[in-house]
Amino acid sequence: MNKQAQIIAIAGGGSTYTAGIVKALLMKGKTFPVAEIRLYDLDKARQDNVAVLVDYVVRTQAPHVKLTITTEPEVAFSGADFVFAQIRVGLYKMRELDEKIPLRHGCVGQETCGAGGLAYGMRTIFPMIKLIDQMERYAKNSCWMLNYSNPASIVADAVNRLRPNARVLNICDMPVAIERNLSNILGVNRYELDVEYFGLNHYGWFTSVKVAGEEKIPQLRAHIQQYGMLTEQEVENACHADPSWIKTFKNTQPLVQMFPEYIPNTYLQYYLMADDIVEHSNPEYTRANEVMEGREKKMFEAIAQIKASDGYVDGKFHVGVHGEFIADVAMSIAYDLRNKWLVIIPNNGLIKGLPDDAMVEVPALVGRDKVYPLQVGEVPHFYLGMLQQQLMSEKCLVDAALEGSYNKALQAFTLNKTIPSAKVAKKILDEMIEANREFWPALR
Ligand code: NAD
Ligand code: G6P
Ligand code: MN
Repeated sequence: MNKQAQIIAIAGGGSTYTAGIVKALLMKGKTFPVAEIRLYDLDKARQDNVAVLVDYVVRTQAPHVKLTITTEPEVAFSGADFVFAQIRVGLYKMRELDEKIPLRHGCVGQETCGAGGLAYGMRTIFPMIKLIDQMERYAKNSCWMLNYSNPASIVADAVNRLRPNARVLNICDMPVAIERNLSNILGVNRYELDVEYFGLNHYGWFTSVKVAGEEKIPQLRAHIQQYGMLTEQEVENACHADPSWIKTFKNTQPLVQMFPEYIPNTYLQYYLMADDIVEHSNPEYTRANEVMEGREKKMFEAIAQIKASDGYVDGKFHVGVHGEFIADVAMSIAYDLRNKWLVIIPNNGLIKGLPDDAMVEVPALVGRDKVYPLQVGEVPHFYLGMLQQQLMSEKCLVDAALEGSYNKALQAFTLNKTIPSAKVAKKILDEMIEANREFWPALR
């Protein structure tokens, strides 16, 4: 097996997730050796700060690994084997508006779902294309971009239309985080689960969860209907452990009580329980505030601590499935392992009733030059109806971005299940246009 050490560039180097990803990568160093990690960001000050923590992680985990910090795409991507993308266009300041503007109109306010997700999508499409072009210009021909940048569904659709041949694989850690919780319920390691799943990103269902060939859906259904997707362990978990995440996992309880056949992605709460979510949201204090006062603040505290004393800061930054998953997918590509992972790929007949160019989240075998899809097949009417509505909302948004069309944007907002009418859609869209002047393409 070719074990040449990898050069990995992280775009969005100033992210709150960077240190956790680097730690997860370096912890796998024996099976997946890394020669160099490069952090790339547009925001030099933020990245330089985060780099203090990343440098600490490298020094304490794998001091032989070279760390490069840059705002130059050429320096970041030249000769790279992988680009891990995790950019947030507009930072938390814009996330806050994505969440608060819809809430002011009585609609779900969320990072990737509903009006907020559409607005975030409109900001992110063109910066992602630029990033891909820079990767293609400088990196190895064999380089893959593994993209975590949200909203992953919209990003995936736009990239598939504008750069269909680019080596970009869009991924999401939510199914893996759910698998972690399911494996805790079952008392097994999450790597022992063999799952079947279909849907769009942040919009799908597990149809099978097997351990050693045995179907565990009945046991999981019974547990979730009683407790939600939770055991005692989750409360102590570093990833997804804030009160709002615990509530999210708990909300799978009513969902599985109402629709017992499959196990839902947690994000379906925003579409199927929108009224409940809005009722329990505070338009003055949303998840963006919780993150800024939680994960981001803790990270900055750890950085200050390192600067002051070089003290021990483990536990003060985000580690867990998020970093493990992107490292696992990269390893599957690097060594052509063709491991089975849930990834976001063109439908091409996988889910009957969705167009070929829908970007669907499904299990596939991930290899060096190719992702090998596994068959999904027919899905019942209820699920297909939900998928089609969400897909077309997102497709209208991408149309709007590419054509600079106000009308298509209004159609995207109107089609979204979290928005009750065209009138409300228009009010939210018009406020979003104002708030996003600096970021959105002009809509006419
Ligand atoms: P963050 O704001 O802490 O970090 C994002 C960084 O990206 C910032 O430092 C910012 O300056 C930088 N950036 C913005 N535009 C850029 C560009 N064009 N080029 C290079 N850098 C750029 O955000 P975060 O909360 O750590 O999240 C980072 C991203 O990862 C978000 O898009 C988030 O939604 C996504 N995410 C996805 C998953 C998933 O499962 N798909 C999981 C976690 C986070
Ligand atoms: C999950 C999702 C990501 C999302 C993240 C948000 O991990 O899969 O796509 O970005 O949650 O988490 P946050 O803690 O920033 O609200
Ligand atoms: Mn995700």
